[in-house]
Amino acid sequence: MIDLRSDTVTRPTEAMLESMREATFGDDSRDGDETVSKLEALAAERTGKEAGAFMPSGTMTNLVAMLTHANRGGEVLLEDGSHTLNAELGGIAGVAGLFYRGLPGKRGAMDLDALRETLRPVTRHHMGTALVWMENTHNRAGGAVLPLAYMQSVYGLAREHNVPVHLDGARLFNAAAALGVKSTNIAQHCDSVCFCVSKGLSAPVGSILCGSGPFIERARAHRRMVGGNMRQAGPLAAAGILALETMVDRLPEDHQTAKRLAEGLHRVDPSVCDPKDVETNLVRADVRKSGRRAAQWSADLKAKGVLVAPADSHTLRFVTHRHIGAPDVDTAVGAFAELWKKELPPMNADTRR
Ligand SMILES: Cc1ncc(COP(=O)(O)O)c(C=O)c1O
Repeated sequence: MIDLRSDTVTRPTEAMLESMREATFGDDSRDGDETVSKLEALAAERTGKEAGAFMPSGTMTNLVAMLTHANRGGEVLLEDGSHTLNAELGGIAGVAGLFYRGLPGKRGAMDLDALRETLRPVTRHHMGTALVWMENTHNRAGGAVLPLAYMQSVYGLAREHNVPVHLDGARLFNAAAALGVKSTNIAQHCDSVCFCVSKGLSAPVGSILCGSGPFIERARAHRRMVGGNMRQAGPLAAAGILALETMVDRLPEDHQTAKRLAEGLHRVDPSVCDPKDVETNLVRADVRKSGRRAAQWSADLKAKGVLVAPADSHTLRFVTHRHIGAPDVDTAVGAFAELWKKELPPMNADTRR
């Protein structure tokens, strides 16, 4: 099977498995664990923040960030298509007790004028804006990358109103690779940031929330409240350390494979996707013109050995990662082309890589 459903399917490397066997087994919830502390310090360094807290998932780091930044009833401003609004089951309201306002955006970047108009202080009629939220790379916008200048503007606007900014950086290192900058250059435009070692970085489990020392101390209490304190988490942290030390530099390969995939799908039919939109490792394919729904496409591709998840009724989301090479992508495009009932036109010189 060629598994293009997600970069979370990446398996730990042999070196990771070895480091997991040799990790410390301290009770992180009771006395702390040496390996977990080392991962948290490394995460803080990679984001340019004072401290980090290791958690089981990206969803939990986002939830704990909300709980730590904002009091119940406060309003969170974020882009309409953000993962936390669309795929984290309403924890923002149901668990954190926050109002939220999804703002319109382009390629994951909420409109700055809308943000300017919507930021508001506490009055006798409003609880006020409690938090501004960004996502980079942006999942539903097909792995789109927020430019640094844009992030700086959002952070500047929020600061004018003394409102903290959180960055959902589940794929922070993909964003850094695409922008050709260090992860710290991105994370400087927010007060807190989370990222996942469990996505394209091949660790089996884990996300880290980073921020100032006092923020992370408070976040640790909220982590405990939502059941996120782990006991002998050393082996998981050991894999996370190797994820950061050895897996970040290869991410551009996944971006190239995604581009190749997008070019192939575009050759099948230009309505499916525009390779120019592909900045990182996610490719969204619009199958509307085929007259079949994305779920049907997903089932038909599975029968041909290609696993792809529907993103909505007419869109498939392909994700490239360490286990996907150029031949896999070509096979996937071939399967897609057969199902589209159309011969692939021959490659031209500049797409034959
Ligand atoms: C942008 C973004 N944030 C958060 C998450 C949640 O991460 P997890 O699946 O580890 O809870 C995801 C998962 O795909 C994501 O893409």
